[in-house]
Amino acid sequence: MAGRIPQAFIDDLLDRTDIVDVIGERLELRRAGSNHKARCPFHDEKTPSFSVNQERQFYYCFGCNAGGNAIGFVMAYDRIDFVAALEYLAHRAGLEIPRETDAAPAARRNEPLLALLERAQTWYRAQLNEHPAAAQATSYLKQRGVAAEIAREFGIGFAPPGWDNLLRFLDAGNNAPTDGADNTIALLVEAGLAVARESGDGHYDRFRHRIMFPIRDVRGRTLGFGGRVLGDDQPKYLNSPETPVFHKGRELYGLYEARTHLRGGAPLLVVEGYMDVVALAQFGIRNAVATLGTAVTDEHIAKLFRHTSDLVFCFDGDAAGRRAASRALDISLPALGDGRAVRFMFLPDGEDPDTLVRRIGSGGFSQLIASAQPLSEFLFATAASELDLALPDDRARFCQRAAPMIHRLPPGVLRQLLLGELATRAGIPASTLEQLTAPRPGAAGPRTVDLPEHRKTPGAVTEPAAPAPRETPSRPGRNYKTPLVQHLLALFLHHPQLCTELANALEPLRGEAIPDLELVFKVHALLQKNPGYTFNHVLSYWHGMHGQEQRNLLARIAANELLLAPETAAGDHLAEARGIIARLQELAERDKPAAARLRGLLDRDALSAEDRARIRALILELSARTPNDPIINEAKQRVTIAL
Ligand code: UTP
Ligand code: MN
Repeated sequence: MAGRIPQAFIDDLLDRTDIVDVIGERLELRRAGSNHKARCPFHDEKTPSFSVNQERQFYYCFGCNAGGNAIGFVMAYDRIDFVAALEYLAHRAGLEIPRETDAAPAARRNEPLLALLERAQTWYRAQLNEHPAAAQATSYLKQRGVAAEIAREFGIGFAPPGWDNLLRFLDAGNNAPTDGADNTIALLVEAGLAVARESGDGHYDRFRHRIMFPIRDVRGRTLGFGGRVLGDDQPKYLNSPETPVFHKGRELYGLYEARTHLRGGAPLLVVEGYMDVVALAQFGIRNAVATLGTAVTDEHIAKLFRHTSDLVFCFDGDAAGRRAASRALDISLPALGDGRAVRFMFLPDGEDPDTLVRRIGSGGFSQLIASAQPLSEFLFATAASELDLALPDDRARFCQRAAPMIHRLPPGVLRQLLLGELATRAGIPASTLEQLTAPRPGAAGPRTVDLPEHRKTPGAVTEPAAPAPRETPSRPGRNYKTPLVQHLLALFLHHPQLCTELANALEPLRGEAIPDLELVFKVHALLQKNPGYTFNHVLSYWHGMHGQEQRNLLARIAANELLLAPETAAGDHLAEARGIIARLQELAERDKPAAARLRGLLDRDALSAEDRARIRALILELSARTPNDPIINEAKQRVTIAL
């Protein structure tokens, strides 16, 4: 059983499997044009809305939005997990499942990597006291109010200036005589600590001249690092890349440290930055964790709820903070079983937890945590935004917005209470509201499917791989506006060659706070590397234990585009994708403060006439607000305005 199943095998298995056969063995399929149709097995219906597309090897139900490839169908229909579905399909195709490194299960395989990260951690820490340049780092920490004791607890270290300090230390004279030198370098690269020179000639340290924050798992093992510059250089924080042991979407900074202090019933506070966690700890608030420069994911939430039943999200009070909060709300809903609570805390403009706790002290900050907005209030406030609930029309819209969110909660007391509350706020009887807003069977959210008793295998997954739609077209194919990111994903999925044609076009978006952007990058990279991949192959990357939400999104996108939208002229796709990327860039820019926008422009190698015009406008804007900012002079020089 042990060992990972190689992706190449999964690709091959999918190529040898015909989804029409697999489904045909379970349902009565009738041909209808280029598709096959059946009554949907995942919800109750009289007329068939379940459709199987042979060419794309994909199924989709227009009634309940369930969709996916052959693996996903078997998982959902037979109620078995990913590996069991692969075993079944392999057996059916007469194939034996090969296992990668059968002799070394994943945990053991990662041991050298973890050991190396631990040595790096220890070394960075030692440099904070020993390196000739360390005084700079210690005085920086002191100036930011971090005491030695807290620095020690969080394992804060120092990557000294220079290109290869860590490399030389870990590589030269290697303490582990059995390891060849090349092996150590390869391992350093895999751990994200060293980077190969572009010339192909040698390597250098990824982290140089930075304060180092080790990111640990709940067992205290170092998985990666965040490194902060000492001054105002860019990027302010450099994080470890994704590695076999480090996944940003899964780890939380400070969880290990918080856990050791967590008393029963204490809330966990989710903040944005490394320094926020450290500053709060400095003030005795020991229950804070931070995401790692990414939006909060469902995996984060699942992990956090293993340690508390009370989550408090802390966001900036500005528009971007509100948006991030809505997203966190959206992601938390399905995880909110009874007894669990999520609350939202908004900070005054221009403050982060670090600055605020220094200003108002731990007492003041604790009070703010205690008075954070309960999920219900935030949900209703979000649904009511820009509406006037005195007007019946707006109250109707209010219901339309709130009800789907409430229905994403798992069945239970909280959901019932919120539905009751919604009825009260909308001024209609609860029974009427339920009739009007209850999703059709299977139309949304987590649910169970009525299957014959004998198929309910023990230990099987309880939830079919049915997507929880965020929006359902009222009339298929018409008036359907796909959000930009989803549209871009759809273009990539259906025209993989775009990923090669647009090899670097996405780069300007990297790091922007755009929902699902990470997924775009992943799909883009995957298709760039494997231009022959069909949607079917891509989907299988999200079939493991993780990424349920992303898989659902992909399935929905595929279905919308593939089965609903008319074909656009082929040549337009490239222009269309470029247009979306440019538009996303614009939207992301709009949310940034002027100085950051200016920085972004100045960092470009070549400036277009348009860029220059924008730089001039930003110079004016900044000169009025922060005339002493050195970036103004830098910008003036760049566009050669007389000083
Ligand atoms: P902020 O820019 O809000 O920084 O980024 P901060 O936490 O207040 O940092 P200080 O107080 O100036 O030291 C919040 C988080 O976003 C990620 C980091 O995880 C950071 O803690 N981030 C930010 C990056 O990953 N890279 C960056 O360049 C900036
Ligand atoms: Mn800060």
